Amino acid sequence: MEDAARRRFLGVVAGAGVVAAAGGAAAYIASSRDAGAYDAAVEATWRHSDSFDLPAPDARKDLVRYATLAANSHNTQPWQFRLPDRAILVLPDLTRRLASVDPDNHHLFASLGCATENLVQAAAAFGLRANATFDAAAGGIRVDLEQAPAAHSPLFDAIPRRQSTRGVFDGRAVPAEHLRLLEAAGSGDGVTLRLFTERKSVEDILGFLVAGNSAQMDDAAFVAELKSWLRFNYAEAIATDDGLFSKCTGAPTLPSWLGRLIFSLVVTKDDENKTYAAQLRSSAGVAVFISDTNEPASWSAAGRCCQRFALQATALGIRHCFINQPVEVPAVRGQFAAFLGVGDRRPDLVMRFGYGPELPRSLRRPVDQVLHAA
Ligand SMILES: Cc1cc2nc3c(=O)[nH]c(=O)nc-3n(C[C@H](O)[C@H](O)[C@H](O)COP(=O)(O)O)c2cc1C
Repeated sequence: MEDAARRRFLGVVAGAGVVAAAGGAAAYIASSRDAGAYDAAVEATWRHSDSFDLPAPDARKDLVRYATLAANSHNTQPWQFRLPDRAILVLPDLTRRLASVDPDNHHLFASLGCATENLVQAAAAFGLRANATFDAAAGGIRVDLEQAPAAHSPLFDAIPRRQSTRGVFDGRAVPAEHLRLLEAAGSGDGVTLRLFTERKSVEDILGFLVAGNSAQMDDAAFVAELKSWLRFNYAEAIATDDGLFSKCTGAPTLPSWLGRLIFSLVVTKDDENKTYAAQLRSSAGVAVFISDTNEPASWSAAGRCCQRFALQATALGIRHCFINQPVEVPAVRGQFAAFLGVGDRRPDLVMRFGYGPELPRSLRRPVDQVLHAA
């Protein structure tokens, strides 16, 4: 949130605070109890396994837990998992699709790719070799598992530390040898990664970001969908274990009714665009992932690449944050593809990266809620 908006936001919050003061003490106690419960949930979620020497069914269940720690659009966690013999199926949960921002399920399949990448990285730690393929008949990704020597890679180690950090970074450049590692991690399997670190290119990309965000903020269906996934306080976030919690963007917590009211009153297109400009200009660069073909298998391949990029960045102490507005609005995406010079290929995903402090972590639903009978 941009400064002027934040001041207005805090002003409205303060005004509402006076009204709410009568019930303040009880609310304070409830809120600190909820904050404690949230911290406990974060600790239980973002952790490595206690043991990597588990019977096969337990190992596969824990691999699913690692998969759920992946990035995913609006934190809807649009996945379900099945455990056939010696394999794991990563399938869409279409009840959690985002009809407005993601009408063709591109981000949904990219999110499945992110989950698959975590699973593949984690399998090695459990002494399993994972071979992931898109299974059109199953409508998702099949990960076949076979015994292999156990190994902990730096990318695996980074899984519980990765987060999408929606803050201002400190403007420092990433050294060339780390850019090379990011480039290697974030490409492959028909996916090209383009890194932009020149100021002029970053400013050009900002133009597409602003155009995409402006179109989205003018779209009532987009805003309504976004609002339905926002969580304004600890109790809301814990009740669902999903969605976009205000604390994770550095915003304050609020009673649900007030948060929804203030979101409608305070969050304007111009303020949002200024916030994005400050965040992008504070970043070391931008990563754009472009797949060869425009179909679910390629969208999930792009997801795998961006999750690998995110894990490699985390391993190097570099933060990342998606800025997908340039690829979410079809008209803007076409112009962005022309800017990139990629012809008919579809730019899939966009991230900024750089250095900055961690923000509060998001939650995930427990494994039992996403695991279905084989
Ligand atoms: C396909 C995809 C698209 C996303 N788009 C955006 C985006 O445009 N802006 C943003 O701030 N985060 C975006 N995210 C990040 C998710 O909101 C984030 O992964 C989720 O809230 C969980 O938080 P975590 O990554 O910190 O675990 C995207 C993630 C995925 C996988």
